[in-house]
Amino acid sequence: MNEAPIGIFDSGVGGLTVARAISAQLPRESLVYIGDTAHSPYGPKPIADVRRYSLEILDTLLDQGVKMLVIACNTASAAMLRDARERYDVPVIEVIGPAVRTAMSTTRNGRVGVIGTTGTIGSRAYQDMLEVNERLTVFAQACPRFVEFVEAGVTGSPEVLAVAEEYLSPLRHAGVDTLVLGCTHYPFLEGVISYVMGPDVSLVSSDNETAKDVYRQLVSRDLLAGADASPQHVYEATGASADEFVNLAHRLMGREIRNVQLVQTGA
Ligand code: SIN
Repeated sequence: MNEAPIGIFDSGVGGLTVARAISAQLPRESLVYIGDTAHSPYGPKPIADVRRYSLEILDTLLDQGVKMLVIACNTASAAMLRDARERYDVPVIEVIGPAVRTAMSTTRNGRVGVIGTTGTIGSRAYQDMLEVNERLTVFAQACPRFVEFVEAGVTGSPEVLAVAEEYLSPLRHAGVDTLVLGCTHYPFLEGVISYVMGPDVSLVSSDNETAKDVYRQLVSRDLLAGADASPQHVYEATGASADEFVNLAHRLMGREIRNVQLVQTGA
């Protein structure tokens, strides 16, 4: 079981930021990553649809023998984390809790911004977890076009900058000192987001913190791969074209993703 892969999924390429952090912190672990490109983006879709697509993907990962599931997508984490934890015997890790913990320990003035898809912000998953800490004032903003830009491989054009100005200026004027990137696609826009928010605002993303949760769970359940394991990284997509996924991944992450297989789910 310890040599079994960790299963990771997102609606598209955003979760690759989490996969990269896991593989940097746990280089002996094998990974299977599925991008649900047939149904991307999840953000504007009804929660019931996101739940159904996500459970189909997690079932597919389980059928491939994974020892752990990582929901590397905020919209899916907000929509179906509880269902997933009830349905599967393997540990299920998500991305919202880790980002909330980091934001709580990062803010100095107690004013925290959170940006995400319409689904994530509408679910109030971040706001409810952050507001448990009465010292915090939370400002939330949906940024629906950000995922479209990333999935098109556009991360720094004047158009992205103009849209970022429009989405982010209310948060800048609210005086937040910490901004949670509540979507795993947004780290690809970190340059433009940081430019608009200014150098004094700390950007928090969930990739590294989620990888620490993965490590903690593997250790506590005695599931770590052995020191002599030879890790394999498998990438799969549900959409019509594997090449499209590879090309986009190369554009955003460099050449580390080599070949992508197409996979069918029941959804
Ligand atoms: C999306 O598919 O719209 C974004 C995924 C996320 O919320 O991380």
